[in-house]
Amino acid sequence: MRPLSTGSGKVARGPVHHPLFARYYARLSVGAETRLGMAGMRERLLAGLSGRVIEIGAGNGLNFGHYPGTVAEVVAIEPESHLRRLALEAALRAQVPVDVVPGAAEALPVKSEAFDAAVLSLVLCSVRDVGRALAEVRRVLRPGGEVRFFEHGRGGGRMMTLTQLTLDRTLWPVLNGGCHLSREPVAALRGAGFLLGPHRRVSLPEKGPALPTSYCALGVAWRPEEPDAH
Ligand SMILES: C[S@@+](CC[C@H](N)C(=O)[O-])C[C@H]1O[C@@H](n2cnc3c(N)ncnc32)[C@H](O)[C@@H]1O
Repeated sequence: MRPLSTGSGKVARGPVHHPLFARYYARLSVGAETRLGMAGMRERLLAGLSGRVIEIGAGNGLNFGHYPGTVAEVVAIEPESHLRRLALEAALRAQVPVDVVPGAAEALPVKSEAFDAAVLSLVLCSVRDVGRALAEVRRVLRPGGEVRFFEHGRGGGRMMTLTQLTLDRTLWPVLNGGCHLSREPVAALRGAGFLLGPHRRVSLPEKGPALPTSYCALGVAWRPEEPDAH
């Protein structure tokens, strides 16, 4: 997102400005594709998708190479300027058309009911307002449209949960682009009125000692066909 002029000579930043995090995420995430098994996870996340897809918080575009040829178009929303530049480069290499667009999950810059599917991959941990973000995902999906999600969150025993909560209240979000460790993405999707489909817990990395970021959920949810109270 370009900085906005305020008219007073000062420059207002876009809503998400994490220049240091963006740079180290761009480096670490590429290594994690093989080292932590992220590439395989992305493949599973996106398998079988078709039609028009919106990806929220696309980062440096590491999902783009995993979209199947049945996808007609991806609109990839990314608010952070450095990551968005990298996503634009990744879009050029992708086998399906990918349009990289500035914007934030809480106010998606797209029409209602315009998409067959939405992809949430390691992003609900970082948005400022999970409820608003998921309400926006519902708005832009057609009735019956699907959400594919791969998200980390609260997990482990008492000690691990306590560690996650403590880190969330102290340095973790500051050092990690607003990321939180103890959110509950599956409960949030249910609470936002999505119908949960098959989903399962996965550990990242799949082997070895668990980290506070290891407790992930991979799955599908749907926007109900019928309008409801949401
Ligand atoms: C951990 S990275 C994950 C990137 C990518 N989805 C992936 O799977 O590698 C979190 C991403 O969420 C983005 N983000 C943070 N706040 C956001 C918001 N309010 N709306 C949309 N994206 C946001 C960040 O800029 C970053 O690209």
